[in-house]
Amino acid sequence: MPSYTLTVNGKSHTVNAAADTPLIYVLRNDLNLMGTRLGCGMSQCGACAVLADGKEIRSCTTTVSRLAGKKIHTIEGLPGLWAAKKGKAETPDTLHPVQQAWIDEQVPQCGYCQSGMMIAAVDLLEHNPKPSVEQIRSAFTNTPPSAHLCRCGTYTGIVAAVQRASKAIAG
Ligand code: FES
Ligand code: FES
Repeated sequence: MPSYTLTVNGKSHTVNAAADTPLIYVLRNDLNLMGTRLGCGMSQCGACAVLADGKEIRSCTTTVSRLAGKKIHTIEGLPGLWAAKKGKAETPDTLHPVQQAWIDEQVPQCGYCQSGMMIAAVDLLEHNPKPSVEQIRSAFTNTPPSAHLCRCGTYTGIVAAVQRASKAIAG
């Protein structure tokens, strides 16, 4: 079986996997990173979203062989990503402002979709630090390959949390 070296949450990992293995299986089964969730498995819900070089990708349909050389961040890696951006050391208490905003706005209900939602928020705020409500709604609904879906209907809380995180990041 071929081996691939992946950079995940700032650490290099070499994994043995078939070339067409979806990234999510490597994250969860090989690297024990359980924050990334499998929903539809068809790029249609967003639950499995992670960042590759800062852009959201769907880990259920992105194969491991396509990710060599890319910097992957999962929900577990958001504190480290934020600490690096601020030039500070990560501590056990470090949270990305998006994560803190999700807590402050009490967004999650069952929580299943929420790591993908936070990944989408980090991608949005990295490229548009002060999005309007319309831009937030659009980012979560009109960005290919699909809308981010929440069976629990937490959409209002997500908009509020992205606005809160935007303010926090702006300082
Ligand atoms: S599980 Fe990947 S988009 Fe639904
Ligand atoms: S919080 Fe339950 S699916 Fe989104």
